[in-house]
This record gives sequence, C-alpha cells and structure tokens, in this order.
Amino acid sequence: MSLLKIEGLRVFFRSGDRIVKANNSINLEVTDNEIIGIIGETGCGKSILGRAIMTLLSDNTEVSGKIIYKDKDLLTLPENKLRDIRGKNIGIILQNPAAALNPVLSIGNQISEVFRYHEKMSKQEAKIKTAGILEMVGIDPDRAGEYPHQFSGGMKQRAMIAMGMALSPEILIADEPTKGLDPETKDIIVTLLQDLVRNRNMSMILITHDLDVAEKMCDRIAVMYAGEIIELASAQDILAEPGHPYTQVLLSSLPKKGLRSISGESPSLSSPPSGCRFHPRCEYAMDICKQDHPDMFFTDIGTEVRCFLYNGGQDQP
Ligand SMILES: Nc1ncnc2c1ncn2[C@@H]1O[C@H](COP(=O)(O)OP(=O)(O)O)[C@@H](O)[C@H]1O
Ligand SMILES: [Mg+2]
Repeated sequence: MSLLKIEGLRVFFRSGDRIVKANNSINLEVTDNEIIGIIGETGCGKSILGRAIMTLLSDNTEVSGKIIYKDKDLLTLPENKLRDIRGKNIGIILQNPAAALNPVLSIGNQISEVFRYHEKMSKQEAKIKTAGILEMVGIDPDRAGEYPHQFSGGMKQRAMIAMGMALSPEILIADEPTKGLDPETKDIIVTLLQDLVRNRNMSMILITHDLDVAEKMCDRIAVMYAGEIIELASAQDILAEPGHPYTQVLLSSLPKKGLRSISGESPSLSSPPSGCRFHPRCEYAMDICKQDHPDMFFTDIGTEVRCFLYNGGQDQP
C-alpha cells in the first residue's frame, strides 16, 4: 500500500540572480514496510528532498508539485496541521547530530520536549517515556541528564534516532545516519535502525551517500543526479545490474569493487547541462543526449532509468 506519493516535486532556491534547481520533477512513492534508499553524490539534492517531505524548507524556496500523505497534499496544508504530522506521522533524523542537537539542553530534556509538545504529557510522564525510548536505542536512561558534548558520535546518533522514533511515526526519514562514524559504530547504528524500523512495521527513507549502508538496509533504491531521480529499482536489481551509466560508475566506486572516481565536474544546479544532465561525463553519450532531456524508460529487468540507451538508443526522440 502506498503511504506517501511525491509527484512532480520541484524545489528551487533564489540565490542572487541565480536559481538553484535543487529538486526537479521528482516522482517517488513510498509503500508500507519498505526501506527506500536515496543515494547520490554530495550536493545532488538528497537532503533537500528529505526536508521538502517534512515541509521544513526556508522561506526563499519555491516549491511546487505534490506530496500526498493520506490523501492530503502536504504542500497545501496549513502550518498548524503540518506541525501535527511532523514527528508523529513522519519523523526525521536530521543530517549532522552535532548541529541538530541543542547544546544547552540535556539529551533527556530534548526528548521529553517531543512528548510534552505533541502528546501534552506532564513532566513526570514525559520523563518515564523518555527513559523507555533511551533504553530502546541503547542509551542508559541514567545518562538522560547529560548534555550533547558528553556524548560520543555514536551516542549522539542514538539520541537523534530516539528523537526521530519517539512518537512512533509511520515513516522515518534518516539523513546520513552513519556519516562520520567509525566502521564498528556504523554497523551498530545500521543494525539498530533496521531492527527498529522492521519490528515496528514502519517505512523509512534512508538518505545516504554510503553505498554499503544502502546495500545492507534498502528494499528499493532511487539514485539522484543533479536534482533528479535517474534510476529507480529494487536494491537487488540496481546493485546487480545498474542501468544508468552514472549508477554504473557510482557503484563501481564501492571499495570492494575497487575505488573508481567519476571523471568530469559535478553539474551546476543553477545552469545544469542541456539534455541529459549526465551527458558531459558519460562515456556512452549520443547526439540526442546533448539536446533532449530523457524520460524514465524501463529496462528489460524492469528497472526505471532516465537514459536514452533504454529507448532503443535511436537518435530521434
Ligand atoms: N537554502 C539554500 N539556498 C540555496 N541553495 C541551497 C540551499 N540549501 C541547499 N542548497 C543547494 O541545494 C543543493 C542540494 O543540496 P543538498 O540537498 O543538501 O545536497 P545533498 O544532501 O545531496 O548533499 C546544493 O547545491 C546546495 O548548495
Ligand atoms: Mg545531505
């Protein structure tokens, strides 16, 4: 069953006389009980997509399209209705816990606030709930009085997970939950998130540029390039038979496959290349790729790929 449906989402920023097209015509559906990965190089628009779904974008942003949750378009809901949905129905673990946590509030108080605000609990009730949620993410409740600077990177990430999970949302957006962690801590956080999401029959949008993490956790994967989704498939198919030339080089950069960097410059989001945005870096580029913008085409194995190679490779649109 579909939980969330994003249709034709565009997120543009005005920056001086330039327009940064951070998300362009994004179509994506999240179904129940699935972990969907959003992968792609830094700057391709992953975090902006997560923030758009949480309707957490700044005022200088032009947003259009639809984000349908339970038959309602989040982009047209008033702020007071959105405040009820944020946290309770759709939770988020923001990128960079060091910046997202409040340095002058104890970890316990930051989590308690969530219960006090959304569930209108008394201080005492919220404290008990907080102890439970800390335990759930593997933090000793006796540490609730400590401040973020007293926590290690992995413990801060656990605290972020506690906050994102506190109200048992149906959908959890996790933005780079393993960034900056050592390999051992990374594995612990991956297992923790996976167990929590699976045991509670939740869905998760996992934003990561860590392909190993995506491989371990995801049912489906969407690959982003320059503000667009350029490939969408089951994790199994995409990893075994990546269709888009960009996905192919991205995946060949996995350490176990021997590191290979993608040649050429990252595309500008304010003046992206004409036609296919990847064509200047693509070893298969044809004439059509420079002129026309490709739609999503189906490959033989059923993955969706934004590439003319899957349109029979003709030189005509
Ligand atoms: N408030 C903003 N104003 C202008 N540009 C922004 C703003 N926030 C993000 N961007 C730009 O949007 C693009 C996508 O950013 P982001 O979604 O954070 O990338 P990712 O998470 O994939 O690394 C980047 O080029 C970034 O510079
Ligand atoms: Mg990001």
